[in-house]
Amino acid sequence: MFEEFTGRFYYLLHPRPVVVVGTLCPNGRANFAPVSWSTPVSEEPPAVAIAVDAGAYTRECLDFCGEASLNVLSLDDAQLVYDLGSASGRDVDKVSRFKLELVESESIRPPGLSRSLAILESGAAGRYPVGESVLYVLEVRRARVRRGTADRFGYLLSEGVNVLLHGSGRYFYGVGPRRVAAKRSPP
Ligand SMILES: Cc1cc2nc3c(=O)[nH]c(=O)nc-3n(C[C@H](O)[C@H](O)[C@H](O)COP(=O)(O)O)c2cc1C
Repeated sequence: MFEEFTGRFYYLLHPRPVVVVGTLCPNGRANFAPVSWSTPVSEEPPAVAIAVDAGAYTRECLDFCGEASLNVLSLDDAQLVYDLGSASGRDVDKVSRFKLELVESESIRPPGLSRSLAILESGAAGRYPVGESVLYVLEVRRARVRRGTADRFGYLLSEGVNVLLHGSGRYFYGVGPRRVAAKRSPP
C-alpha cells in the first residue's frame, strides 16, 4: 500500500513556497538565494524560520549582517529563482548577473527585490545548527505586499496572482496543477 521514500522524505513536504533571501555579505555586496525550507513559527513576536545549508554564502552573509529580506515571487519568476539558486554569491555578483532591480528596506539594511509580490524584512533572533543546515529564526520587523495582490486573508489567487511553489529540482508549481520547468542553468 505504501512504498519506501525515506531517502528523500523532504520531497513529501513539497511543493512549498519559496522565499528569496536577500542579505548583505562580507564581500560588500547584496546577495539573493532561494530557500524553500521556510515556515512561519510565531505571531507574537512575528517570526519565521529558514533552513540554510552551512556551505551556502547566504549562511555566511546572514551571520555577518544578522538581517535578511524574504522575497516572495510569482510563478512567472520560476526561471529567475532557479538561476539564483544555481550560482553562489561567493563567486558571482548575482545582482548584476541577473539584472536584479532592488528596493530599499525600511527596517533592515539588506534590500529587497522590486519584482516581489511580498517582502518580509527580518532580523536574526536564533541560530540552530541541524545536520548540514543552520536553522535561523528570524523576527519579522515589517512586511509589505504588492498593492492589489492580497486582501486580509492573503494572496488573491482567484484573481490571477500566483505564488511560486518549489516542487523539486528545477520544477515549480503555482497553486493549481500548472507546472513550470526551468531550463538548466549554464555552469
Ligand atoms: C527553488 C530552490 C529552493 C532552494 N531551497 C533551499 C533551501 O531551503 N535551503 C538551502 O540552503 N538551499 C536551498 N536552495 C539552494 C540554494 O539556493 C543554492 O545553494 C544557492 O546557490 C546558494 O547561494 P549562495 O551561495 O549565494 O547563498 C534552493 C535552490 C532552489 C533553486
